Amino acid sequence: MQARRLVLKWMKDTGLKVRIDNVGNIFARREGSDSEAKPIMSGSHIDTQRNAGQFDGVLGTLAALEVAATLNEKRIPTKHPIDVTVFTNEEGVRFAPSTMGSKAIVGNLSRNEIYQQRDAQGVSYLEAMKTAGLDISKLSPPSMNRGEIEAFLELHIEQARSLYDSRIPIGVVTSIVGVRAFEVRFTGRADHQALPLGLRKDALVAAAEIVLAVNQIPRNISETAVGLVGKLTAYPGMRGVVPGEVEFTIDLRDTTISGLDRLTSEVTSRISEVCERRGLRYELANVSSSEPASMSERIIKTIEEASSKLRILSMRIRSGAGHDSQNMARIADVGMIFVPSKDGRSHCPEEWAEWHDVEHGANVLLYTTLSLDKV
Ligand code: HGY
Ligand code: MN
Ligand code: MN
Repeated sequence: MQARRLVLKWMKDTGLKVRIDNVGNIFARREGSDSEAKPIMSGSHIDTQRNAGQFDGVLGTLAALEVAATLNEKRIPTKHPIDVTVFTNEEGVRFAPSTMGSKAIVGNLSRNEIYQQRDAQGVSYLEAMKTAGLDISKLSPPSMNRGEIEAFLELHIEQARSLYDSRIPIGVVTSIVGVRAFEVRFTGRADHQALPLGLRKDALVAAAEIVLAVNQIPRNISETAVGLVGKLTAYPGMRGVVPGEVEFTIDLRDTTISGLDRLTSEVTSRISEVCERRGLRYELANVSSSEPASMSERIIKTIEEASSKLRILSMRIRSGAGHDSQNMARIADVGMIFVPSKDGRSHCPEEWAEWHDVEHGANVLLYTTLSLDKV
């Protein structure tokens, strides 16, 4: 909320008219000269993973704000309104699913499904909004239909290392990976260490087989398939007690629906095979899914032209990270601009983008916005 208040202040200082919808998305409008022209939306998110970096999401949000401020300073009118956008809860850390705000906008998630989401302490999203001072009765619904906006643009760090390794300053995103996230619970039996190995129902040993499988199976699916177990908790979690229960997360990604489906079914059948063999029960809940998305060829070309006009080298690139852009692509022409991540690092304090790359990215975003405004 502190970060939101700071961004809202900067938006108001930039003379933008701010609107917050009733799931928490922020839209700050710079009016255009043609009241019929559809808005050009640009932005990203300001929530982060825990113990993360300062560029993921924030870069795209502040660059979009900087574009509006620069147009003001240079007294450049645009035909289309410019909507600087902050999507709420892109990372899905406290409340599932990730990219929650843009899923609400495009209708993938109803407002009530969102309000009922609960955090690890059992606090619902609705209660958390009220505690944070967001009075939903004064906020408008998030819905947006296809054709309502001219385009959506998102500047973001690459979060992998293609641009960094090839020393190319600008990535023009062609497609965004699909994501399926699960929460899993294995139930065995807590026992004394004295129990012989063959008689135990050790939930942690079983989970360990799946941790390795989630890292192995994607390699046989496709070049772009990946899997991760990022969080695992064993209960009761004492040195001398066989873990009777384990809870862990699984995050699966691929660029195609067929790849995602194969990855999901191979991992889930491995889970049932391991639990069957070891005499354990399991529960598997799909807590978040984002479909793979292609970016608009029209916007890709506009970004490439903007880069070459600025004499900045660019290359087409796919995104292995999920983004709000993949949801917005369901209702609008969408484009993403990447800048290099130092050493390919992200979702960690070492996350870094060189300031000259940030400036290139923001200028490409400005020139792309100006080109789209001629439409
Ligand atoms: O998980 C992702 O790919 C994004 O950074 N939220
Ligand atoms: Mn992220
Ligand atoms: Mn992000």
